[in-house]
Amino acid sequence: MSTVAVTGASGFIASCLVKCLLERGYNVKASVRYPNDPKKTHHLLALDGAKERLKLIKADLLEEGSFDSLVDGCVGVFHTASPFFFDTKDPQADLLDPALKGTLNILNSVAKTPSIKRVVLTSSEAAVSFNGTPLNEQTFVDETWWSDADYCRKNQLWYLVSKTIAEEAAWKFAKEKGIDLVTINPAAVLGPLLQPSLNTSCANIHNLISGAETFPNATYGFVNVKDVIDAHILAFETPSANGRYLMVERTAHHSEVVNILRELYPNFKLPEKASDDKPYAPTYNVSKKRAEELGVKFTPLKESIRQTVESLKENNHFKAPKKKKEAERASVMATVAVTGGSGFIASWIIKFLLQRGYAVKASVRYPDDPKKTHHLLALDGAKERLKLIKADLLEEGFNFGQKDLLEPAVKGTLNVLGSVAKTPSVKRVVLTSSEAAVCFTRTPRTPQVVIDETWFSDPDFCRENKLWYPLSKTLAESAAWEFAKEKGIDLITINPTMVIGPMLQPSLNTSSAAVLSMINGAETYADVSVGWVNVKDVANAHILAFENTKASGRYLMVERVAHFAEVVKMLRNLYPNFKTPEK
Ligand SMILES: NC(=O)c1ccc[n+]([C@@H]2O[C@H](COP(=O)([O-])OP(=O)(O)OC[C@H]3O[C@@H](n4cnc5c(N)ncnc54)[C@H](OP(=O)(O)O)[C@@H]3O)[C@@H](O)[C@H]2O)c1
Repeated sequence: MSTVAVTGASGFIASCLVKCLLERGYNVKASVRYPNDPKKTHHLLALDGAKERLKLIKADLLEEGSFDSLVDGCVGVFHTASPFFFDTKDPQADLLDPALKGTLNILNSVAKTPSIKRVVLTSSEAAVSFNGTPLNEQTFVDETWWSDADYCRKNQLWYLVSKTIAEEAAWKFAKEKGIDLVTINPAAVLGPLLQPSLNTSCANIHNLISGAETFPNATYGFVNVKDVIDAHILAFETPSANGRYLMVERTAHHSEVVNILRELYPNFKLPEKASDDKPYAPTYNVSKKRAEELGVKFTPLKESIRQTVESLKENNHFKAPKKKKEAERASVMATVAVTGGSGFIASWIIKFLLQRGYAVKASVRYPDDPKKTHHLLALDGAKERLKLIKADLLEEGFNFGQKDLLEPAVKGTLNVLGSVAKTPSVKRVVLTSSEAAVCFTRTPRTPQVVIDETWFSDPDFCRENKLWYPLSKTLAESAAWEFAKEKGIDLITINPTMVIGPMLQPSLNTSSAAVLSMINGAETYADVSVGWVNVKDVANAHILAFENTKASGRYLMVERVAHFAEVVKMLRNLYPNFKTPEK
């Protein structure tokens, strides 16, 4: 597999690029400034494939020859390293020198390395649109535009100067030395962060949701990081790619960004007014033609903003404000219990409950096994509000087989409900049932049939067909409804289908194993259609079912049904280098 180099690998864009290159099967040599700082390297070394195919190499933009060993043996170079911030007292030393000298430094190393077929430079829209021509609704910026470094200097737009002079110098040097250069020119890049530190473009969104009184009276172009990475890789892999590629999904004034945030997160405190009383900076048009011809599909701005906020929350850069009701509830610290806390779905339910301020008592079978508890104890708020309690659905252990599924499911459910019946403080029980307790009846499942919550799997049908897991879920759910009715327990069931998505727990659960079975070298895939749903949606359904006073009955959770052949196709599109079964 070919080897490529990435500079500035610890950064926001480069981290995603390294991830994607590894996923595509490349060997990656990546330069970092601080190889001994885990904050700069841990997220890279933890990437899939990193152990075998990622090599970190120390290099600094300003150290001449520093990149020789990086580019040695590579067929391609992605040069992303360049300082990106606005506040500086010494723009020459902080921004201009590293950008310009760094770029020439790397291109010098490239010029000495004949194995390199192409260099993809991460330039910026900052090097395109800013030359004094008014930017407004009538303006149409394309790749023929260039920012004017002198104009930017006069206006002290130092980052813009740095990107403009670096790109200009790169084109000149590439022409002189016959280097095949392509530049990617993104606007403000948003989306999920892989690195633990907050980068400048995501900090822009972070500022807006962190209690700022005003929003900047400024219009920016925006683009999603995934699309920017696609552009880099397409620019490298498509032989006919050439020149510059602007990457701007669209421009938007910060007032609109705030409106999108308000729509997505009605409980956030967001700034109400602009930073000055001047008319709003107008939006302008930026060509997507070349990027789209290259094969880029742009993610809408609203989705990029959502992904950024969700990632800021997940990486603990930002604590979401609580709704008034939630805040009240948190202040009295309502306590809820979750059984089977170590599991795939329960781990997510516990994470979300802690995020919402609940105190959680969670049962686990093996409280002394760190593989079953460490990921729970490491959750935010766990120290103060999570209590693990040893409990087993049955007193004796169980393995696999008919008896081993049925008894824990049915007796365990009744066991838990028996405890609930003795505890008047419990307001509601949310039971994780399954689509398996819904759809296995004698009615054939065809594309014309719509399954809903009125369906109930038929235990005899399950028995006849040796469908032991569906039988266990069906018997457990019917026993639960019967018992709840008898004892006046407010019961709700969530009936998810095959649940997939990120795993919090270190062990592989059965539904995630179904996905693994299609990428671990198997020759065939299962000839069956099943329903699929995301684990976060399932965890949220549990919490909504608990909190929403109007919730009742059963809730099917199936995003849609797909044959394994279709899932294999999706995997192939996402990961063209994976070996997936052909039949
Ligand atoms: N994010 C955007 O909105 C956006 C838009 C258009 C273009 N870009 C361009 O995309 C590239 C990456 O930006 P980003 O958003 O990913 O920013 P970032 O997270 O701040 O990454 C910048 C990278 O450059 C490295 N770097 C800075 N000074 C260096 C030096 N003297 N020697 C070696 N490495 C140095 C940093 O290393 P450390 O981690 O060691 O600090 C970091 O890895 C930059 O060229 C930027 O101009 C970004």
